Amino acid sequence: MILLTGGLGYIGSHAATLLAKQGLDFIILDNLSNSKIDVLTRLEKITGKPIQFIHGDIRDRALLDQLFKNNPIQAVIHFAGLKAVGESMEKPLEYFDCNIHGSITLFEAMAEASIHKLVFSSSATVYGENDNPELVETMPTAMPTNNYGYTKLVIEQMLEKLAIANSRWSIAILRYFNPIGAHPSGLIGEDPQGIPNNLLPFVAKVATGELPILNVFGDDYPTPDGTAIRDYIHVMDLVDGHIKALDYIQNKSGCFIWNLGTGKGSSVLEIIENFEKVTGQKVPYQIAPRRAGDITACWANPEKSKHELDWQAHFSLEQMIEDLWRWTMPNKKEERI
Ligand code: NAD
Ligand code: UD1
Repeated sequence: MILLTGGLGYIGSHAATLLAKQGLDFIILDNLSNSKIDVLTRLEKITGKPIQFIHGDIRDRALLDQLFKNNPIQAVIHFAGLKAVGESMEKPLEYFDCNIHGSITLFEAMAEASIHKLVFSSSATVYGENDNPELVETMPTAMPTNNYGYTKLVIEQMLEKLAIANSRWSIAILRYFNPIGAHPSGLIGEDPQGIPNNLLPFVAKVATGELPILNVFGDDYPTPDGTAIRDYIHVMDLVDGHIKALDYIQNKSGCFIWNLGTGKGSSVLEIIENFEKVTGQKVPYQIAPRRAGDITACWANPEKSKHELDWQAHFSLEQMIEDLWRWTMPNKKEERI
């Protein structure tokens, strides 16, 4: 059995669909701080099976001890954490407590229960700004520009030290690029609270008319069209990487790092153009100043994941947008309620 911390969130819920599809047994622990309980019902609808769920916090050591005692858990996929970049600058201690203290509490409880297999959600943000936009796992990490990214770097470094100190640990650190899209059923997807910070959720809300206009943050970057470039990856491809990573670490000891990206970058203007083409909706936009902390361009070098995990992304940008749109369309939303 696998424990999914944060398993009702955006990425965790998509991972749950794939685990269920592969007949893997799992249990979800989530404190619902950034997800809604009805995701559980929708997961049950997609998988056709009851889902085991515990409403609780990774910082609750007594709860974790009980959870590990009462369930035959062999591995943990650790998605739980706070992820809003701006908020992390306003409330650093909340981010240190939830992400860093929460992870330490989880790792302590795992060690105590003799569970040493872990897949951790990290981010390409740990690379910082590089002269070369194609990011490879062997590149040095850099201090991220925000407190959220800092928590990811600290946890990565702790995990590397943990694996050196005790060879029983088998750890997969997955560096996500920019996950977008939704489950093809249209029943689950990213559901940000309030005004979204990330590009695709914002674009979708402009296309539905919920927000009036998109600000394109900077058109003076040294890129072909002047706007910043990122590696957007379908969330279903991303979660497939977790299953492959979990498989890889089954009989290995140590700490392994893999990029999860497509290897291809798209600019903000290319995203808008593709979105309009796929959905047939206009996305009004205006050029705004650069956003603090943003880098010019980055995409994954996915070779290590391809060779070691036999994993690569399959969905095209058009498919990512199609699935996002199916999830976003107002009529679909009403169906879900
Ligand atoms: P999300 O906010 O949708 O999901 C996280 C889930 O964890 C939520 O359901 C939330 O309620 C839960 N949670 C938060 N703190 C908790 C705690 N202390 N105890 C128990 N549950 C808790 O985020 P997501 O997009 O699904 O991201 C999952 C992981 O991937 C996070 O660690 C995030 O930092 C990381 N990540 C996400 C992205 C991205 O673009 N979405 C990129 C890189 C890395
Ligand atoms: C951001 C975070 C990163 C986090 C990731 C996933 C920053 C600096 N980085 O990455 O730490 O892991 O989200 O949560 O916040 N854009 C616009 N207009 C918008 C929104 C975005 O032009 O309204 C542009 C951005 O300037 C950027 C691109 O779109 O060039 C992608 O932005 P976003 O989706 O926020 O992802 P990242 O900045 O790559």
